Amino acid sequence: MSEVAKSFAEVRKNIGGLRKDLALQGLSNIWMRETARYKYSYNFTWLGLPIIQFPQDILAMQEIIWQVKPDLIIETGIAHGGSLIFYASMLELIGGDSHVLGIDIDIRPHNRIEIEKHPMFKCITMIQGSSTDEENRFMTLPKEGGRCWLHWTRITHMPMCFGNSNFTHPW
Ligand SMILES: C[S@@+](CC[C@H](N)C(=O)[O-])C[C@H]1O[C@@H](n2cnc3c(N)ncnc32)[C@H](O)[C@@H]1O
Repeated sequence: MSEVAKSFAEVRKNIGGLRKDLALQGLSNIWMRETARYKYSYNFTWLGLPIIQFPQDILAMQEIIWQVKPDLIIETGIAHGGSLIFYASMLELIGGDSHVLGIDIDIRPHNRIEIEKHPMFKCITMIQGSSTDEENRFMTLPKEGGRCWLHWTRITHMPMCFGNSNFTHPW
């Protein structure tokens, strides 16, 4: 077994231990609840823009993105745009022709200005509208060489949706 494989095996064992430790889970829930009083998850930025996430979640997203290597990431809920920039920067590091689609019911003008002037905006499209509206069920995303049809049924307010190059599957 390689050293990396050994490390992954140890991580799986550790996670198994955490899963069974109800007392620790209770403490974690208390920690989350109490930090929310101070809007802890609002304390961070990604490449200069506020990102409303727990740092550990950002790290986990990075792991998923690296494993999945999506060519499209859809985010419902843009706010200041830090997470859009995060996804775009991850896709840029992976390389290839990839895109981030952000949907928000209310894209505030000052946020739009900051996002549009960011170097990572080159692979971001923003749509104002509700992610749960039926009329947003079919959307088009301009892409080199034509149009990709995004097809979804009902995307509720999810932190992240992965797309791949086959847009015939609703997700
Ligand atoms: C917590 S913020 C998003 C934070 C952002 N993803 C980040 O990581 O920085 C929630 C956002 O969801 C948007 N929102 C709420 N309901 C929505 C809906 N039905 N469709 C799209 N966006 C919605 C709000 O306008 C707000 O900007």
